[in-house]
Amino acid sequence: GAAIPFYGEHQAGIVTPAQDRLHFVAFDVITDKKAELVELLEKWTHAAARMTQGRDAGSIGAVNGAPEAAPDDTGEALGLPPSGLTLTIGFGPTLFRTADGKDRFGIADRRPAALADLPRFAKDALKPEISGGDICIQACAHDPQVAVHAVRNLARIGFGVVSVRWTQLGFGRTSSTSRGQVTARNLFGFKDGTANLKAEDTQLLKDQLWVQPGDGAEWMTGGSYVVTRKIRMLIETWDRTSLGEQEAIIGRNKGEGAPLGGKGEFDEPQFAAKGADGQPLIAADAHVRLAHPDANEGARLLRRGYNFVDGSDGLGRLDAGLFFIAYQRDPRRQFVPVQTRLARQDSLNEYIRHVSSGLFACPPGIRAADDYWGRALF
Ligand code: HEM
Repeated sequence: GAAIPFYGEHQAGIVTPAQDRLHFVAFDVITDKKAELVELLEKWTHAAARMTQGRDAGSIGAVNGAPEAAPDDTGEALGLPPSGLTLTIGFGPTLFRTADGKDRFGIADRRPAALADLPRFAKDALKPEISGGDICIQACAHDPQVAVHAVRNLARIGFGVVSVRWTQLGFGRTSSTSRGQVTARNLFGFKDGTANLKAEDTQLLKDQLWVQPGDGAEWMTGGSYVVTRKIRMLIETWDRTSLGEQEAIIGRNKGEGAPLGGKGEFDEPQFAAKGADGQPLIAADAHVRLAHPDANEGARLLRRGYNFVDGSDGLGRLDAGLFFIAYQRDPRRQFVPVQTRLARQDSLNEYIRHVSSGLFACPPGIRAADDYWGRALF
């Protein structure tokens, strides 16, 4: 239940050991006035600094204000501990220039080259109403009530300046982002996050996660780019697939999570190894072979996704899957080539559909109480 520091060089919620629960929200900015947007970012930062420490969103609080005024906190987190809450903000391409070409806030020339619109990938089945957004906030916590309270209060504070475009609830982190964590499982029943970038990989984090000086767009130095993909899993089809086939598709065994041909979860996959039949032990179209840095010029991702079940789909099936979240230094060199390869060749594709997509530039951390989210940008 402990609090995670809000201030720091990088935003919390990226290498922070992945919490159990997610509430992710994407907002549309509905004002054209820069001053209103900046004022909201200041208010949000103030509220986020408080809520992540387990306090009310506003300084009066849920129940101490005048009876005739609406409270500055909605109250449902009263009495709950901070629960490891982190709030991580990102700015989408449309904040810099709207789809119809308007530079509403005079920041079009500050858009980082790395924040290039994602290409359309093979088999994409994206729904625009749950994709994109001008601003995202990722709320992670060990208690869903705490994550939902935070997003709800940010939306409340943003009334008239932003409107909620889409949100996603998630449970059961599907990645570990630290070696101290055991690897959790996704809804296909496989350990997910074994070969993830982890908080302890200091040099790799510099190379692959954090924007470095000279990368372009100096205001992003110390930040990172996040890609979100809501991936529906066709679990009923998967559940009728044999264990051997499931393992062949992933390229790891289901029990241990060991690469096929290996024993332990953290054994290096031996992609050249062949079985008695002369076929590679890890198939050419296995997920881990295609996603591995060896197949992608060394590119890695810090994955931080969550499982979701959004009820049923009205056709007698669970509307379930993986809300994939990945942080990186430059999506053009990391997510895009990896997903291009997966979309074309991955044998997992028969069992999944990408239904939403998001891309956001997450600025560096907040250093002190007078700083606010996005100050270096505006
Ligand atoms: C590895 C599942 C989508 C990138 C893995 C592993 C599993 C898995 C079980 C092996 C354990 C591990 O190292 O984490 C899934 C499922 C997906 C999915 C069920 C869709 C529902 C994606 C997407 C990407 C991706 C969209 C990126 C575009 C990776 C990477 C690895 C990996 C980079 C590590 C490969 C390595 O270095 O060995 N995934 N994944 N995955 N996945 Fe996925």
